[in-house]
Amino acid sequence: MDPSASGLIHRLAEAGQSHLLQFWGELSPEEQADLNLNLQGMDFQEINGFFKNAMETSSSSKQEKMDTRMEPVPREVLGSVTRDRECLKDWELAGLRCISQSKVSALLLAGGQGTRLGVSYPKGMYDVGLPSHKTLFQIQAERILKLQQLAEQKHKIKCCIPWYIMTSGRTMESTKDFFSRHNYFGLDKGNVIFFQQGMLPAMDYNSKIILESKGKLSMAPDGNGGLYRALGNQGILGDMERRGIEFIHVYCVDNILVKVADPAFVGFCEQKGADCGAKVVEKNNPTEAVGVVCKVDGHYQVVEYSEITLATAEKRSADGRLMFNAGNIANHFFSFSFLRDVVQKYEPKLQHHVAQKKIPYVDAQGQLIKPDKPNGIKMEKFVFDIFQFAKTFVVYEVLREDEFSPLKNADIQDGKDTPTTARHSLMSLHHRWVLNAGGHFIDENGRRVPAIPSLKDGTDLPIKCEISPLVSYGGEGLEELVREREFHPTLMIDGQGVHELVKNGV
Ligand code: UD1
Repeated sequence: MDPSASGLIHRLAEAGQSHLLQFWGELSPEEQADLNLNLQGMDFQEINGFFKNAMETSSSSKQEKMDTRMEPVPREVLGSVTRDRECLKDWELAGLRCISQSKVSALLLAGGQGTRLGVSYPKGMYDVGLPSHKTLFQIQAERILKLQQLAEQKHKIKCCIPWYIMTSGRTMESTKDFFSRHNYFGLDKGNVIFFQQGMLPAMDYNSKIILESKGKLSMAPDGNGGLYRALGNQGILGDMERRGIEFIHVYCVDNILVKVADPAFVGFCEQKGADCGAKVVEKNNPTEAVGVVCKVDGHYQVVEYSEITLATAEKRSADGRLMFNAGNIANHFFSFSFLRDVVQKYEPKLQHHVAQKKIPYVDAQGQLIKPDKPNGIKMEKFVFDIFQFAKTFVVYEVLREDEFSPLKNADIQDGKDTPTTARHSLMSLHHRWVLNAGGHFIDENGRRVPAIPSLKDGTDLPIKCEISPLVSYGGEGLEELVREREFHPTLMIDGQGVHELVKNGV
């Protein structure tokens, strides 16, 4: 194995990255082969260019003045499940029609590393402790199955919602293996398509690629906006075209309430002739850590909470709501033609964002150092950075309690966005579905539990109730199962029927 024979030494020297071979002589033949292979596949000039642009953008005065350049989303591009109630049914029907014609696909972003949750496996494999112990992947798969069935029943035609799953070098094998072990959760294997996003090296502030060990570069996925490059170079765009996909619902893995391929959202976007759309919830607390959809210099964009001042986050409109209240829940709609233009024309124009990180590295003596303050950057593109290229952009506002409860952090007492909050959000939604369908809950003394539990009664824990997505996608079809009936929690409704798991605590 001789790096000079392949011109690698020369390429590294030209790019100022020769230090990557500084321990070459100390590596075993296998380690040398691995390092050589990794380095051969890298374009160092391109990586240096990414670094330069990302650092320039992140420190520019443009960013400092973000607050003065922002405008809220205008009402005319906004659809709302509360303010436009009368249109909801039509949107849903329009979306179901598109689904029945097999024009809609779901695309899951699952390449993240789940660092905050602190698990070593992909987040979609996480079990938040529901009575069924279903994982996030299973819940999403079953929602797709049910939606296909609803569209087929309505239009008397067989259809399919292909599910594209983006993984990264770190999550690909375990994700694929998990799906295969669970028999694709009942979905047709040919309609679950895995693909892999790219990775980029971490770099120090002097634009040097960081070595995490003597023979290994410190690599990380290139952000959820790595989607667009991967769609092109992994042949996914071609697959969509062959299948006749016209509309794509892109979403993040961590939201337990996600309405995968939501027909109302798809229908709303389709009816508005949109090429790009974002689903949002009303942000009502200025310090909540969600990005907001808004216009910057006249172009649509998501501005992350870390990019604006508190004064801007606290600004209110005449009606008392926060002025920048379109909270991004990472649920996006794209038309196929827009996505194709993005991949073919706009992707190279997207800048990487800079995340300052404490990155373990080996120093010149070969010692592993774990820094206690940031010593370098990771570079990421963001999925929503393409909003600026949309010709017809729309925003769709939904209710947080119905559609957004992300799993970000490990459980701690009163923690936010944890397994406990995710589990409670789902059970609380399903409790409301049962009540709305005419069912009731009773306690151990046979007394009806009030619909709105009283804090005085001890806890504000939700009623334990879980409804399989295979039974209901969004609360429909439950009347015949629950109307005028009384249930003891824990209530489970699944393909086998209605069961009470008394004293089976979760
Ligand atoms: C994301 C949104 C934020 C929104 C919040 C809502 C982005 C960049 N930010 O923030 O505006 O308010 O969700 O919950 O979308 N992922 C990849 N590859 C990567 C990195 C991430 O596929 O390289 C995936 C993750 O698996 C996850 C999703 O992208 O499904 C979101 O990533 P995460 O880093 O958790 O984003 P947030 O900071 O929570």
